[in-house]
Amino acid sequence: MSIFGHGILAFTDRRLVRRTFTELGLGRTLASRFVAGEVLAEALAVAQRLNAQGMTVSFDHLGEHVRSAEAAEGAVVDYLACLDRIGLEGLDANISVKLTQLGLGIDDDLCAKHVDQLAERATEVGTSVSIDMEDSDHTQATLSLYRDAQARHGNLGVAVQAYLHRTHTDLAALMDLGGHIRLCKGAYLESPDIAYQSRGAVSSSFRELLDRLMAFEHTRPAIATHDEDLIGHAIERAAPRRGPFEFQMLHGVRSDRQRELVEAGFNVRVYVPYGTEWYPYLTRRIAERPANLLFFLRAVVGR
Ligand code: FDA
Repeated sequence: MSIFGHGILAFTDRRLVRRTFTELGLGRTLASRFVAGEVLAEALAVAQRLNAQGMTVSFDHLGEHVRSAEAAEGAVVDYLACLDRIGLEGLDANISVKLTQLGLGIDDDLCAKHVDQLAERATEVGTSVSIDMEDSDHTQATLSLYRDAQARHGNLGVAVQAYLHRTHTDLAALMDLGGHIRLCKGAYLESPDIAYQSRGAVSSSFRELLDRLMAFEHTRPAIATHDEDLIGHAIERAAPRRGPFEFQMLHGVRSDRQRELVEAGFNVRVYVPYGTEWYPYLTRRIAERPANLLFFLRAVVGR
């Protein structure tokens, strides 16, 4: 992420900015590029279309940092409903969860219980649960909870962030667990003490981690990036690889490239967020590509 991107994350975190974005209604217009809709039915329709185009899906019911056990339980109910629809409609899809939405930080045992509930239901409908990686305050707890849940259920996966120095050590322990591992650059504001800051350093860390993942046959790597250089690097490493792997991209970003990769014979999974809690998700998408902010500001001026 650029310095400008860091500034955008700090700026959009302010309460007044959040209110302006969400209450103007224009924020929602911008969010609609990245978010399938506010209700599950809209996300299911997007998933059906993507499945028909040969892509699998990861549903993200938007929400993070809930403040009460009741809110976390509400998120579980929503995800269970999503899993039931995946089963009923025979979709090629799984779910992707943020642990702070399921109670991490409020009651970690409750959060673990919630992950168990989701993993069990996912087993019943023949799918899996991915765990997103959030900011570094939660890295250790997320990895520990993932390790235990994966040992119990065997149908989970976790995201790792190339910008964190620690990921190079974490990866070795994770690969032996057999779950799917999503490699991404990392989308949060992190300090230089723990995270690479420059684009070049993050990319070179990404390449190194990608090489290790692709060389290991007993896991299913997910290469989550829209960066053409890194996609090219993954394609090079794919040729000698025996086990499966997939590319992952976000709904609304480089859709043409997603289709091209499918046509070239690669597995592609699209991350499909839905729900009303789109603001933090949107700010990360803007920070990754400040041109999105200009689009927003032009719309404000246009009004
Ligand atoms: P980069 O940002 O360099 O983008 C490359 C090109 O892609 C850009 O030049 C542009 O064309 C296009 N592009 C990228 N982002 C765009 C945007 N927002 N709007 C428009 N165009 C855009 N992070 C995290 O910390 N934890 C997680 O669990 C996940 N999970 C996750 C799942 C999936 C499926 C993806 C694809 C990404 C994540 N991320 C994530 C986000 C990730 O860490 C990273 O912030 C973004 O993917 C942007 O980095 P890229 O690798 O795409 O490269």
